[in-house]
Amino acid sequence: MKKLVSLFLALTLSVATLAGCSGANNAKPADGGKSGGTQVGIVLPTKDEPRWLQDQKQFENLLSDAGFTSEVLFSQGSSATEKTNVESLIASGIKVLIICAQDASAAGAAVDAAKEAGVTVICYDRLITGTASVDYYVTFDSVAVGRAQGQYLIDNKPAGSGIPLYLYAGAATDNNAFLFFQGAWEVLQPYVADGTFVIANSSEAVALQDKKELSYDEEAKIIGQVTTDWDFNVAKSKAEAHLTAADASAKGDVLILAPNDGTARAIADAFTADADISSYVVTGQDAELASIKYIQDGKQSMTVFKNTSTLAADSVEMAKSILGGSKPATDTTYNNGSVEVPAKQTDVTVVTQGNYKDVLVNSGYYTQDQIDAGE
Ligand code: BGC
Repeated sequence: MKKLVSLFLALTLSVATLAGCSGANNAKPADGGKSGGTQVGIVLPTKDEPRWLQDQKQFENLLSDAGFTSEVLFSQGSSATEKTNVESLIASGIKVLIICAQDASAAGAAVDAAKEAGVTVICYDRLITGTASVDYYVTFDSVAVGRAQGQYLIDNKPAGSGIPLYLYAGAATDNNAFLFFQGAWEVLQPYVADGTFVIANSSEAVALQDKKELSYDEEAKIIGQVTTDWDFNVAKSKAEAHLTAADASAKGDVLILAPNDGTARAIADAFTADADISSYVVTGQDAELASIKYIQDGKQSMTVFKNTSTLAADSVEMAKSILGGSKPATDTTYNNGSVEVPAKQTDVTVVTQGNYKDVLVNSGYYTQDQIDAGE
């Protein structure tokens, strides 16, 4: 439904330099280096969230193994830096751009420039909207992420009815924030409509609580109120403000929809510090080490594991096909408001105290020592 996205927020572009370079990969190009230059450019949103460092690591290993010259650059929260990064990669001769946009709509200008230069554009994890310059999209099933979060709250709710439900969302400039919220709302809404849950922190969500399917604009109203901007500090201060404003009926045993791990930890800390909260169930996403530690210690209830090695591998496979002159394999499409973008989608896994060893340690994704250290 809301895979289709309209332009939402205009971002104020500030002048920025080419910040956050991670350095070039020294691998030889497939042609043995005859052509020179960089073949594949990767642009990721920020170094400040562990999630994107995981992706960087996967890319550097995979592209080097594939024998491509590549470079990973970070936008550090700025669409202007993102554009400068893309321009610099174009200048270094890339044929394929793999980009996880800072802002879904502002990134349009950057990928338009890439397209004009003959570069094939792959959106990575986050869809860029409102432009025909996107060739492919490699993504997790983001609606399923939200559904898994909502379903976890339902399956682990305290007994009775009138249970306070606190809603939080990602950045309104990220199309995924809408997909996550859509999935969660889909499963949570019936429990709000029948009074099992009472929304504690969003008048916009309360006004819409009888609607199972929200339009993009309706969702934008709620997200506008409960957004964390994907920022831990925003998440923490918003949670503190909500708790200060909440009366006794919104305290006790509560449920919290937190959109990802970083915000979940920040929100969980705020709820832990409130003496009138007896218990909370809080969701997350990304299986960050710090959150697996929180889950181990009983401070975060769940996370949604998105295997970045699969996503990076799918993107590298696409790049291989493109550079080899063939059509990449895709299994679905996403409408970005301008075109139907052929996409490759990956499933996600719920991780809890009960299964994290199996899913993350026994599989070799993390070591128990890394989890114990939480970083
Ligand atoms: C990603 C999440 C991530 C969030 C904040 C989303 O687009 O899908 O994995 O936690 O951005 O960076």
